[in-house]
Amino acid sequence: MNRVVTDFIVIGSGIAGLMTALTLAQEGRVMILTKAREEESNSYRAQGGIAAAIGKGDSPDLHRDDTIRTGVDLCNPYSVDILVNMAPQTIQLLSDLGTPFDKQGNDWALGREGSHSVSRILHVEGDSTGAGITSSLITKVMEHPDITMMTHTMVADLIIREGECKGVWAVDTAQTAIPYLAHKGVVLATGGCGQLFQYTTNDQVSTGDGFAMAIRAGATITDMEFIQFHPTALAVEQNPMFLVSEAVRGEGAILTNDLGEAFMHRYHEWKDLAPRDVVSRAIYSEMKAGRTVFLDARMLGARFAARFPRIYKKCMQHGIDPERVCIPVTPAAHFIMGGVQTDIYGQTSIARLFACGEVACTGVHGANRLASNSLLEGAVFAQRTAMQLASLPDQNLEFDDALSPSLCINNQSTEKWKQQIRKIMWDYVGIVRSSDNLSIGLAELKKLDQEVSEGYLECRNMLITAQVIIKAALLREESRGGHYRYDFPELSPDWSNKHNVI
Ligand code: SIN
Repeated sequence: MNRVVTDFIVIGSGIAGLMTALTLAQEGRVMILTKAREEESNSYRAQGGIAAAIGKGDSPDLHRDDTIRTGVDLCNPYSVDILVNMAPQTIQLLSDLGTPFDKQGNDWALGREGSHSVSRILHVEGDSTGAGITSSLITKVMEHPDITMMTHTMVADLIIREGECKGVWAVDTAQTAIPYLAHKGVVLATGGCGQLFQYTTNDQVSTGDGFAMAIRAGATITDMEFIQFHPTALAVEQNPMFLVSEAVRGEGAILTNDLGEAFMHRYHEWKDLAPRDVVSRAIYSEMKAGRTVFLDARMLGARFAARFPRIYKKCMQHGIDPERVCIPVTPAAHFIMGGVQTDIYGQTSIARLFACGEVACTGVHGANRLASNSLLEGAVFAQRTAMQLASLPDQNLEFDDALSPSLCINNQSTEKWKQQIRKIMWDYVGIVRSSDNLSIGLAELKKLDQEVSEGYLECRNMLITAQVIIKAALLREESRGGHYRYDFPELSPDWSNKHNVI
């Protein structure tokens, strides 16, 4: 059996994977395995920006307070300290690596987003921050002699022997499974799982593969019930939905309903810049009451097109001129706060298996992520993960070849199963949950589980991840951040600082 052997394996090509690979390449050979094109990631799609306390009147302490308040008593304060204190130097590093952050005169231009007490969001070309950062990192990766990027290569499973991660089974476009082995270890940087939901801003690659692989390998997973629904996806396209960045509200746009009422004052004192979970539930309530919801950005006039060129272009493609009419919006699944549990160096509960970016739970987001902290988390913890992994001694790679995973060629049913999973999750595990609905959702998924056989990799991964989310949501009998139960609508002191560990 052919085996590919390298020093480090990184799974995924978003900001976390790219930054980890670039840092690791100072110490050895790196192989990045990514299941689609290198640009296909949620990082690439990110609009609003990346947060860092670098403006006048701001400080890491203020950034820390905003992060912890938004996370509703569930953040790990040590991880948050690392995040906010490493943010300014990480911005400098990204800039040195070629990211053309927007400037205002000689200073970085800073925008505002929900639940931030000051303007601290850096951006690129207005609303193309993810594309700006990942494109410059991809260029560096491609130039690097010690990094090999394998696109269209899907990791099927982790290879674990005697409690250590030796490598992975990966499948190429010809559906051939090959073991890739790593002298030092493997980094999961596979992103999130928005594609579990019917309406999502996430790229089609976000099928929860990393969570499912880690679960199959027996890694510890935590806080999976916390899903963030972004309040303002453009209510016209389907999968994925196009995001209308929170930064638009940061510039003064307001949410209105079809009665022409600016309604956010009824839900939170910070109105349109309240935490994301609050805004999404407010929109949900308006919609439940039979109203349609819009983002009114007309007051920005010609500034809209200049500040948000990508959003402007998309709206205009749909015949919506933001200078003249209100933009129809709807909440959509956007981010998962939980994930594969790691320490502050990306180490999971399995030796030589590391995780960073959205798939990881470093504890920085708690029950609800502060806007624009996700690119930051990926970039900050990638550096720490790489440092720790590179310091390990080489492992013994002499072991009996693992059994090759079973594979099935995708067929017509694959798309049908995916749509069924996505509908079940949206209907029963969405913005507002209850024990009854969660139980129905779980029962429906279990029925599908019987139907989808082992080798349909993405569908199997979606089913595994979805069921873990529901089980965690059933256990947490309270409402906190991204997890809202109408049968337990209050915060419960019993659950404060408590994590659902699976
Ligand atoms: C946005 O631009 O609204 C999204 C930013 C984020 O998810 O943090």
